[in-house]
Amino acid sequence: MTGNIEREKQRAAEAAAEFVEDGMTVGLGTGSTAAYLLPPLAARKLDIRCVATSPSTSQAARALGITVVSFAGLEAPARLDMTIDGADEVDPSGWLVKGGGGAHTREKAVAAASDRFIVIVSANKLVDKLTPPIPLELAEFGLAGTLARLGSVRLRGVTHSPDGGVIADYTGSFEDTKALAAWLSGMPGVVEHGLFPPSMVSDVLVGRGDEVERITISGGAAGTGASM
Ligand code: 5RP
Repeated sequence: MTGNIEREKQRAAEAAAEFVEDGMTVGLGTGSTAAYLLPPLAARKLDIRCVATSPSTSQAARALGITVVSFAGLEAPARLDMTIDGADEVDPSGWLVKGGGGAHTREKAVAAASDRFIVIVSANKLVDKLTPPIPLELAEFGLAGTLARLGSVRLRGVTHSPDGGVIADYTGSFEDTKALAAWLSGMPGVVEHGLFPPSMVSDVLVGRGDEVERITISGGAAGTGASM
């Protein structure tokens, strides 16, 4: 089972590497699926520059000879052509849960600055309905108050984010994803949450066995899956 999942992640990542073209500025996600993207991308020897969403991705990409630049160093308006990243869950309308690796704040900032956001997943990540936990990054300042306002929340007890945020998970049950995302976005002390809206997503590449299915997301309506 684990072997199948890893193979599916790798197939989706390999397919995504083919979307990258010479001259592009590319966002690199974080996690095991995003890590599978780096070798096939490096092997294409394209003239590209990349923005990494975590120190671990930056280090792994550079080790393979991929040019990594800082997000802050991009010339205004700081746009990327494409970002490729994994996800923890994908629902039928294209809402995502991300942040299993605690990198969702940088991942969302990079995805939001990208003309295309391509999500790469194994088939087990497709769900009928998103479920908790929803990853959070919280400001250290006023943390006790933020935790009290959130109510159903669990600190992960891991190292702070590279930006100094406390990584936690919202554990409450929910029916309305959009309403939860809005509530979390409006909560003082929440730096970022791991709910990514369909409006941010261009395509989902799903590894299924040795095949890759491409689902096009447009404004919350998922298109028919096509095999690649
Ligand atoms: C990290 C993420 C990852 O993309 C997500 O957790 C999926 O991880 P993996 O590819 O290892 O299954 O959002 O913050």
